[in-house]
Amino acid sequence: MRVTVVGCGYLGAVHAAAMSHLGHDVLGIDTDTQRVAALAQGRVPFYEPGLPELLKAGVDAGRLRFTREPTAQEVAGADVHFIAVGTPQTSGSGEADLSQVRSALDMLVQHLDGRRRPLVVGKSTVPVGTAAGLADALAGRAHLVWNPEFLREGFAVHDTLHPDRIVYGLPDRPEQAQAAQSVLDEVYARILDEGAPRILTDYATAELVKTSANAFLAMKISFINAMASMCDATGGDVTVLARALGHDARIGARYLRAGVGFGGGCLPKDIRALGASASLLGVEPLAQLLAAVDTINRGQRDRVVRLAVECCGGSVEEAAVTVLGAAFKPDSDDLRDSPALEVADRLSQLGAAVTVHDPQAGEQVRRLHPGLAVAPDVWRALDGADLVVLGTEWRELTGLDPHRAARLVARPVIVDARNALDPTLWREAGWTYRGVGR
Ligand code: UDX
Repeated sequence: MRVTVVGCGYLGAVHAAAMSHLGHDVLGIDTDTQRVAALAQGRVPFYEPGLPELLKAGVDAGRLRFTREPTAQEVAGADVHFIAVGTPQTSGSGEADLSQVRSALDMLVQHLDGRRRPLVVGKSTVPVGTAAGLADALAGRAHLVWNPEFLREGFAVHDTLHPDRIVYGLPDRPEQAQAAQSVLDEVYARILDEGAPRILTDYATAELVKTSANAFLAMKISFINAMASMCDATGGDVTVLARALGHDARIGARYLRAGVGFGGGCLPKDIRALGASASLLGVEPLAQLLAAVDTINRGQRDRVVRLAVECCGGSVEEAAVTVLGAAFKPDSDDLRDSPALEVADRLSQLGAAVTVHDPQAGEQVRRLHPGLAVAPDVWRALDGADLVVLGTEWRELTGLDPHRAARLVARPVIVDARNALDPTLWREAGWTYRGVGR
C-alpha cells in the first residue's frame, strides 16, 4: 500500500521504517530539514536499537523516502496517512499542545479532493475528544481511525512490529467503520497474522486507552516510590517488597522499580494532559489521583538530591560529584524530562562540580548543559569523585566493578538512585552505599 507518515520523530521514524519493513511504499514527512536529510540518507538522528538497520533496508530498497514538502500528487495518491507528530505539554499548563496535529491535518486536507477517500490514521497521543474534532475537520475527504501507539523507547522497533495489542478507534457510521477497518487490517496484515489482539472501539475509548495505559504505569511507579518512603521510615526494603508484590499475578512485577522516578517524553506529560482533561470534564477524583502521582514523582528527584547532599556532609559545595547516566532511561539518548539530568543540574546549582557520563547522550549533554562536565568514559568520570550518583541504569553502568571503581574515586560513596546495584557487593568493596527505600 502507499502510505505517508506525517511527523518523523521517535514515533514516526520508527513507524515509517516498520511500515516499509511490512512491504508498504512509505513517504515520511517532517518539517525539520536536518531530520529529513538524515533519515533520507538512512541515518537515524537519535539512538534507538535496531532502527538504523530497518531504516537503511527500507531506504536501500527504495520503499522508504522522506520529504519536507510532499507534492499534491504524493499526498493525493496515498492510501493511508499516519499522523505521528508530537503533542508536547503546553508551557504554563498541563494541557497537550495540539498545534502539530492541526498543521498535519491542514496539510493533508489541502491536498485531498474527496474524489478518492483515503484513510487518515491518528497515532499521536491526544486528549479525549480530539479525534472527533479532526474527523469533522476532514469533512468527508477521508475516513479517520484513531490507532494509538504503545511503543517504548529503546524497544520501539520490537513494540511496533510485535505489539501487545492493536486498538482501532472507528467512526460511528457502520459503513465508514467497516471501510476504515478493512484498510487498516490490510496495512497491519502481517502483524495481525502473528496473533496480536485487535480491539475495535470508538474514538473516545481509543484515545483513553493510550492515556490511561501511561497513567496506570506512572501510578504503579509512584505507588512503589511512596512505599519506598514507608520503607525508609520503617527500615523496610522496597526492592524485596516489590519482588514479593510482583508474584501476585493481579499486581505483576513490572513498573515496580523504586528510585528517582519516571521521566521522558511521555509519562510525565501524559498524566498532566489526562489530569487537565479530567478537570475540564469535571472528573475531579481522577485529576486528584494524577496530581498525586505527579507530586510523588517530582518528590523523588528532591529526595535523591537531599540524599546526595547528606552523603557530602550537609553541603555539596565544591564537592566533585559524578552522575552516571543522563538519559531518562537506559537504551535511549532521550534527555526529555530526565530525572538523572535534573539531579545533575540541581547538584551543580548547589555548588557541586558535576561530571556526567552517559553511554549515548554525552554529546547532547555537552551541547545543552554547558554547566556540566561530560566524561567520555565511566573511568574518567569516576576519577577523583567525592560522591557518585547512579542516575540511569544502563547495563554497562550497573555492571561496573566496585573494586576498580573504588580505586579511582576520592571517597567511595554511592547514591544508587535506581536501586540497580547489589548493596552487599558494593559495601564489601569498601563503598558507603545508599539506595532509595532500602
Ligand atoms: C512509555 C510507555 O511505556 C509506552 O507504552 C508509551 O508508548 C510511551 O511512554 P517510554 O517513555 O519509552 O514509554 O518509557 P518507559 O520504559 O515506560 O519508562 C518511563 C520512565 O519510567 C523512565 O524514566 C523509567 O526509568 C521509569 N521507570 C520505569 C521507573 O522509574 N520504574 C519502573 O519500574 C519502570
